Amino acid sequence: MKERYAVAIDGPAGAGKSSLAKAAARELGILYVDTGAIYRTVACYMLDHGAEEPAAVETLLPQVQIGLRHGEDGLQRMALNGEDVTERIRLPEVSMAASRVSAIPAVRQFLLEMQRRLAREQSVIMDGRDIGTVVLPAADVKIFLTASPEERARRRWRELEERGTPQPYEAVLAEVERRDKSDRERPIAPLRPAEDAILLDTTALDYAQSLQRLLEIVRGGL
Ligand code: DC
Repeated sequence: MKERYAVAIDGPAGAGKSSLAKAAARELGILYVDTGAIYRTVACYMLDHGAEEPAAVETLLPQVQIGLRHGEDGLQRMALNGEDVTERIRLPEVSMAASRVSAIPAVRQFLLEMQRRLAREQSVIMDGRDIGTVVLPAADVKIFLTASPEERARRRWRELEERGTPQPYEAVLAEVERRDKSDRERPIAPLRPAEDAILLDTTALDYAQSLQRLLEIVRGGL
C-alpha cells in the first residue's frame, strides 16, 4: 500500500456515503473528510445574513471562517467564525441552503483549496459531489456510490423515525428527488461519476455488505 493516498467518494444525497466512508476510514486508519459539512457551514452563515442571491453570497464569503477539526471519536466538528455548528448543519433548512450555495461558482472556488490542502497533509477518504472530478482528480481510488432514489428515501425515512422526527415517506422521497435534481443539473461541478470512478450501487446491499465492497474496491485500487 502507498504511504499517502486519497480516496474520492462521490454520489447523491442519502447513498450512505458518509457512514460508509467514515467506517472505511476507521478500518484503514486514515482521515475521513465530509465536504458536504463544509458547504453546510457556509450555508449557515448565508441563512443568518439573509443572503440568497449569488451576488450577495459572494460579497459575504470573505467574512466566513471555517474551522474543521476531528475529535478523538473521529467525528468531524465544524465551526463557523468560532461557533460550533456541528449539530446545526444537519437541520433540513440548512440542507436546502447548502444545495443552493453549492451551485454558486465563487463558493466552490472559495472551498477548493481548503479541501485540497486536507488531502495534501494526510491520507484521506473524502466524500462529496465533485471530489473525483474536480477537487482531487488525481485521487488514487475513485468511487461513485449510489442507490435508487426510493431506497435512499427509505433509509432517510427510517433515520428520521429513529431520531424521533418522523416525516411521511412521500415527503422524504420528494426531498431526495429535489436535491438530486439540483445537484445534478447545476451548470458548475454537477454531480456525475468521474470517468475512472468505480460504480458502487448499494440498492440491494445492506450496510455490512456495502462496507465490505467499498473496502475491497479501495484495497484493490491501491
Ligand atoms: O453531502 P451533503 O448532503 O452533506 O451536502 C450538502 C450539499 O452540499 C449538497 O446539496 C451538495 C453540496 N455539496 C457539493 O456541491 N459538493 C460537495 N463536494 C459536497 C456537497
